[in-house]
Amino acid sequence: MKGREKLWSKLSSAFLRKWWFVAAISVGIVLLGIIIAIFFMTWFNLILHHQLVLRRGAQTFELWSKPPVNPIYKVYIFNVTNADEFLNNGSKPVVNEVGPYVYIETWEKKNLRFHDNGTVTFNQEKIYVFNEEMSVGPEDDVVVVPNIPMLSATSQSKHAARFLRLAMASILDILKIKPFVEVSVGQLLWGYEDPLLKLAKDVVPKEQKLPYEEFGLMYKKNGTSKDNVTLFTGNGDITKFGLINNVNGISKMTHWATDKCNSLMGSDGSIFPPHITKNTTLYLYDKDLCRLLPLKFLREVEDPNKVPAYRFSPAHNVFGTPDENPENKCFYPKGPPYTPSGFFNVSLCQFDSPILLSFPHFYLANDSYRTAFDGISPPNETEHNFYMDVQPLMGAALSAKGRLQINLAVSQVVDIKQVATFPDIVFPIIWFEEGVAGLPEEVTNLMNLATSAPPIARTVITALLIAVGLLLLLIAVWRLVRGANRLSSLQLATGHIPPQIKPEIPMCNVKQ
Ligand SMILES: *[C@@H]1O[C@H](CO)[C@@H](O)[C@H](O)[C@H]1NC(C)=O
Ligand SMILES: *[C@@H]1O[C@H](CO)[C@@H](O)[C@H](O)[C@H]1NC(C)=O
Ligand SMILES: *[C@@H]1O[C@H](CO)[C@@H](O)[C@H](O)[C@H]1NC(C)=O
Ligand SMILES: *[C@@H]1O[C@H](CO)[C@@H](O)[C@H](O)[C@H]1NC(C)=O
Ligand SMILES: *[C@@H]1O[C@H](CO)[C@@H](O)[C@H](O)[C@H]1NC(C)=O
Ligand SMILES: *[C@@H]1O[C@H](CO)[C@@H](O)[C@H](O)[C@H]1NC(C)=O
Ligand SMILES: *[C@@H]1O[C@H](CO)[C@@H](O)[C@H](O)[C@H]1NC(C)=O
Ligand SMILES: *[C@@H]1O[C@H](CO)[C@@H](O)[C@H](O)[C@H]1NC(C)=O
Ligand SMILES: *[C@@H]1O[C@H](CO)[C@@H](O)[C@H](O)[C@H]1NC(C)=O
Repeated sequence: MKGREKLWSKLSSAFLRKWWFVAAISVGIVLLGIIIAIFFMTWFNLILHHQLVLRRGAQTFELWSKPPVNPIYKVYIFNVTNADEFLNNGSKPVVNEVGPYVYIETWEKKNLRFHDNGTVTFNQEKIYVFNEEMSVGPEDDVVVVPNIPMLSATSQSKHAARFLRLAMASILDILKIKPFVEVSVGQLLWGYEDPLLKLAKDVVPKEQKLPYEEFGLMYKKNGTSKDNVTLFTGNGDITKFGLINNVNGISKMTHWATDKCNSLMGSDGSIFPPHITKNTTLYLYDKDLCRLLPLKFLREVEDPNKVPAYRFSPAHNVFGTPDENPENKCFYPKGPPYTPSGFFNVSLCQFDSPILLSFPHFYLANDSYRTAFDGISPPNETEHNFYMDVQPLMGAALSAKGRLQINLAVSQVVDIKQVATFPDIVFPIIWFEEGVAGLPEEVTNLMNLATSAPPIARTVITALLIAVGLLLLLIAVWRLVRGANRLSSLQLATGHIPPQIKPEIPMCNVKQ
């Protein structure tokens, strides 16, 4: 009798202890599952941010420094077909939109210099190669456009002394300068020798000198920029990833009234701080735009490689007057009069030339600017809006169409006979589209994986751990209950211990 009892108690004690152990482990597994559920995304983001930070060898760095895509630059020119009647008979100006003239771009960041404070300095290289197959004609197609250097000079002289205007008139006469020029598309973009700029270079005092004697809308843009751009690598503060810190050591423009408007802290359009939501405002910085361009969420789209993306676009009041958009008040350091709605006055950044930027076909401006001309079709959001599709988790730009129109705001100056009949008018010159069609498939596949895999992994790992933990717990509890019952019935039968005491205690007692 005694031997059998001892054997039984030994068996039960070892047996039960094992299941207590199993129960403890299974609770641990369930807890681990819960911890992973809570912290998985934090850990994932730590890894993601580490991968994003720009440093030599990292994948984002390669994508950013030497993008594996060729942006396409398309130019449309408003060819003036009735220049003489417009000047002599006061006819409505007629323009014929010619284009696209297409250039394939190659971008690369040169002379990279990393700094200890989480920034990198570089010179942007952009090479434009003309592509005749994709264009409507060769680069040496001739177009008739307003003479920008001349009309800038005459418009600026509006408030100068009368004798200066008269002097200007005779100079224009001697140099035979006309209000419209006949130039090739290539010249208009990449530069032609302008007699007025050449003269200015020789006579104007050194401090006020224009830097060039050639004029072109894209003059000196083919090649490596001399500007030293410093931007944040994301090291230390991922929320500034890809934003500009300074250009040539200067971190604020000086043209505008407030720090906010003078800020350069935008993206160059290739990468943005990660974790973009529908509430995020993306800021683009472009030197020629002379300000940050805020982009707001428009809608969800899919890029050609089926990557879900967010489309961002400027708000409709982005170039609104301060009455329409109070945030634009700081672009008028001298107060009113305001530039009409839908235009942005870049005069202060373009050597005081009366250049106004707008969207193509005067999209978002009063339609009267467009109907002042014959030959400009109504703007169309699909063809003329400015947008950018970004991968929200990583902040990578997938595809984009950056579209802007360059206009000349001519002021009538009656003292100068050559332009006496040129009325006050906002004259469109060209509009362009800088387009990126999407990243290569191997990159977007990786992005898709990085976006969809973690939530799945989190769910699967958590579910698996909790399921296994609960199952083990169930088995352990069942075994324990059964074991306890068996033990207590055994002990009841031998009459050693009162039945209400927990199984372990009898076990210990039995041993002694
Ligand atoms: C632009 O207009 C001028 C004058 O009307 C014309 O001679 C020229 O061929 C036009 N250019 C193009 C590219 O159509
Ligand atoms: C412009 O005026 C001239 C002379 O006044 C005239 O010969 C010509 O037909 C006019 N052109 C148009 C398009 O009205
Ligand atoms: C980081 O260092 C670079 C180079 O010394 C400097 O141009 C830049 O202004 C610094 N940026 C910050 C945020 O300190
Ligand atoms: C830009 O420069 C490259 C060489 O650096 C040249 O091949 C190309 O034709 C140039 N493009 C234009 C539009 O001048
Ligand atoms: C850019 O940096 C280089 C080297 O540090 C310097 O020689 C050059 O003058 C800088 N350029 C400008 C425009 O500041
Ligand atoms: C977006 O911003 C608005 C107002 O600032 C806020 O009410 C809303 O909850 C935000 N939505 C998200 C998804 O963060
Ligand atoms: C553009 O800005 C310049 C400089 O502030 C100013 O003189 C000019 O009148 C403005 N032009 C328009 C059309 O608002
Ligand atoms: C557009 O301009 C015209 C004339 O300047 C004005 O009568 C009209 O109200 C403006 N339209 C809008 C929508 O502002
Ligand atoms: C805008 O252009 C697109 C593509 O060319 C066309 O499908 C659409 O109908 C146009 N919309 C309007 C309002 O003209």
